Amino acid sequence: MDYEKLMEKAIEISKNAYVPYSKFPVGACVLSENDKIYTGCNFENSSFGLTICAERNAIGTMIADGERKIKAIAIYSPNMDNCTPCGACRQVIHDFQTQSGTDVITKIGSELKIYKLNELLPEGFVL
Ligand code: THU
Repeated sequence: MDYEKLMEKAIEISKNAYVPYSKFPVGACVLSENDKIYTGCNFENSSFGLTICAERNAIGTMIADGERKIKAIAIYSPNMDNCTPCGACRQVIHDFQTQSGTDVITKIGSELKIYKLNELLPEGFVL
């Protein structure tokens, strides 16, 4: 699975986002250690604080399928170039990195940008 394909899946799932309040759709696509793919979109709630981000929705599906490590995660919003994960999602990704870290992929125009999670969250919390 190349990163362009991962981003295509993030774009596709962003179309299912439920965002009546922010009007800010996001899609995420996780590539797990065993090369399985999980997608998720954000969904909001009339009690605003209950909103679930696209990244954590995709990661939850990965966990429910028994996978535990994230090789890469692609994130997309049609409303923003370089849509990087929020701080909460960075910490959630942090707990599921592979030995060599996790690639975080965003889109800027037609180009992909690839970060290491540790660049986006240095010194993440470890219990
Ligand atoms: N959102 C995500 O889904 N992922 C992020 O990393 C940033 C924020 C969602 C939450 C909310 O539904 C909307 O984007 C605006 O904050």
